[in-house]
Amino acid sequence: MKTLIVQLGARSYPIHIGAGLLSQGMLIRERLQKERICIVTDDRVGPLYLDKLKASLKPLVVESVALPHGEENKDWEALDLIFTALLKSGYGRDSALIALGGGVVGDLTGFAAAVYQRGIPYVQVATTLLAQVDSAVGGKTAINHRYGKNMVGAFHQPLVVVSDTATLDTLDPRQLAAGLAEVIKYGLIRDIRFFEWLETNIQQLVAKDEDALDHAVVRSCEIKSAIVAKDERDEGERALLNLGHTFGHAIETALGHGEWLHGEAVAAGMAMAAALAVRQGGFKATEHRRLCRLLERAGLPIAPPAHLGAEELRKHMARDKKALGGKIRLVLPKGIGQAVLTDEFDEKALEATLDNEPL
Ligand code: GLY
Repeated sequence: MKTLIVQLGARSYPIHIGAGLLSQGMLIRERLQKERICIVTDDRVGPLYLDKLKASLKPLVVESVALPHGEENKDWEALDLIFTALLKSGYGRDSALIALGGGVVGDLTGFAAAVYQRGIPYVQVATTLLAQVDSAVGGKTAINHRYGKNMVGAFHQPLVVVSDTATLDTLDPRQLAAGLAEVIKYGLIRDIRFFEWLETNIQQLVAKDEDALDHAVVRSCEIKSAIVAKDERDEGERALLNLGHTFGHAIETALGHGEWLHGEAVAAGMAMAAALAVRQGGFKATEHRRLCRLLERAGLPIAPPAHLGAEELRKHMARDKKALGGKIRLVLPKGIGQAVLTDEFDEKALEATLDNEPL
């Protein structure tokens, strides 16, 4: 097991990464006081791992609620299911939640914990690659709105993140690839050596080689937790973690949440951000090709669906949370291993990128 600490003063917390951690309930119990516990999971992950987690938490007695799975259910209704279950069972302010699942369950549970009776603690038990490398770490919680992805939410840090890499065994190839998109993002924004390592090891990752996945999760969490420690509230450097997300969120919203997986949209979004950077002269065409090749080898798309035109995507991009004074800001790569947040981009170059014109 490898343990990293997200350094946030009094709200610092550990991320435990390793195979078989679902059975090590002590990692969670040691972070809880005397709260009543409710596990929030979904109808896919629950049948696989809920009993195992409950058994490892003994002697704690825990209840659970299972939500419908999928990004299309990251909404008010699912949130209400959590609140109703808690209120019906008389959960008070001495309660805590445990998210058992991927990014959707984690974001919903975290947001429910942020606002239930004005805030209770929660724990992230991440069972998808995307959650283990990104969404479970850093305290961003949210639900989607029909006008945009993650539009209603709160910053609320978990007490501990437990990433049992053995749970990746049951992940389908599409979900695995979606997580790899975020892994590739870390190499692109921060670490050229990690990017090169991914180029060498992408086949092993797709084949779920245990050591390769372990390294990918650990290195991704090291990069993310260092950035979150410096900029918890996303007021500066943390925006770099959003490379590909302005385009990606627009694709997700335009298609309808759940049509593409978040990581798939981010992959296409990263290729688009890189293409725009090439058009503006900040990124080499050869680097763009390397990125696209790596994404494709991971089984990911490198362009938005053909039927979504520039106008449709532009409309959704305008609602991005990074926009300032109505002006879109984008994270663009500046060579592999570096990225910048900028509001300086050429409208024609953006339109050509949104239309997926060849470079
Ligand atoms: N997923 C981007 C962030 O946590 O800031």
